[in-house]
Amino acid sequence: MCLSDEIDISRGDVICEAQNPAEAANQFEATILWMSEDPMLPGRTYAIKSGAQTARATITAPKYKINVNTIERQPATKLELNEIGECNIAIDKKLVFDPYEENRDTGSFILIDRLTNATVGMGLLRFALRRASNIHWQATDVSKTARAEMKTQKPAVLWFTGLSGSGKSTIANVVEKKLAAMGKHTYLLDGDNVRHGLNKDLGFTDADRVENIRRVTEVSKLMADAGLITLVSFISPFRSERQMARMAMPEGEFVEVFVDTPLEIAEERDVKGLYKKARAGEIKNFTGIDSPYEPPQNAEIAVNTVEKTAEEAADLILDYLERHGYLT
Ligand code: ADX
Repeated sequence: MCLSDEIDISRGDVICEAQNPAEAANQFEATILWMSEDPMLPGRTYAIKSGAQTARATITAPKYKINVNTIERQPATKLELNEIGECNIAIDKKLVFDPYEENRDTGSFILIDRLTNATVGMGLLRFALRRASNIHWQATDVSKTARAEMKTQKPAVLWFTGLSGSGKSTIANVVEKKLAAMGKHTYLLDGDNVRHGLNKDLGFTDADRVENIRRVTEVSKLMADAGLITLVSFISPFRSERQMARMAMPEGEFVEVFVDTPLEIAEERDVKGLYKKARAGEIKNFTGIDSPYEPPQNAEIAVNTVEKTAEEAADLILDYLERHGYLT
């Protein structure tokens, strides 16, 4: 094949008939068959592969699942192993596609877990959703760099993760106080507080926690864009969502702080009396009791709260920021 114009094409690009071009879109309605023991969670980012095209995809809204025995439609908030559902999906770039009814190759895809690389689902593209196609990015004149320079600082997102009662909020509070005393411009996003407003519609199921973290990732990105040193103190129990938050920011801007407190110690402290209630069965899906916590494997900073006071932990974090040029 010889191209008449010199254009940059590579793996994943699609050549099609000029008279009958394939469509390109980044939001779809799709039928998905879930193939993993771990349920499909709306808001979680998966890798998508359609033919040779790869991208990142999020299931934005499962509409219903299909009872394979009766073909009945049933309401669904997630899909379990071997369940089939109709969902909206959003992709981080345009995918060239044909509806599955027209072309089986360009109308189908697989979903891959980005941490384990396992294929977790497969699906059929039904049709493109046009809702975002008329929204363009609005350029503004005052840049992130300008906003940060006015404050003589580098924006960063300090992401505190750990069990309930591990000391995240206490340490984040001390860090923020110390940064403020140095004249830095900061904002602290705390899980309990954000759940009183923006996220008051969310509970503690896996799906709600994924959405909780997705929203706070977007908010912390905006705060960093405003030039602020942003402290996020959320349990954020899943590796996948913390990884998503990291990927959403420029390299080096996301600093993960693992507030490492063993369950026994957090439970013994039980500052809010929640562990007692959870053990008594009065709170369902409590982190560490009947809902998982996946500790970070490569956090930039880990603080052991058994050995260190909140003050010492805060100094350790400030020392890291200083040494890595965040405070200059
Ligand atoms: S996250 O898991 O979705 O990141 P988040 O940090 O927003 O959690 O909220 C955790 C706080 O909510 C805890 O510190 C605790 O005070 C309160 N809470 C209430 N119910 C639960 C629960 N089932 N599991 C964990 N925390 C809970």
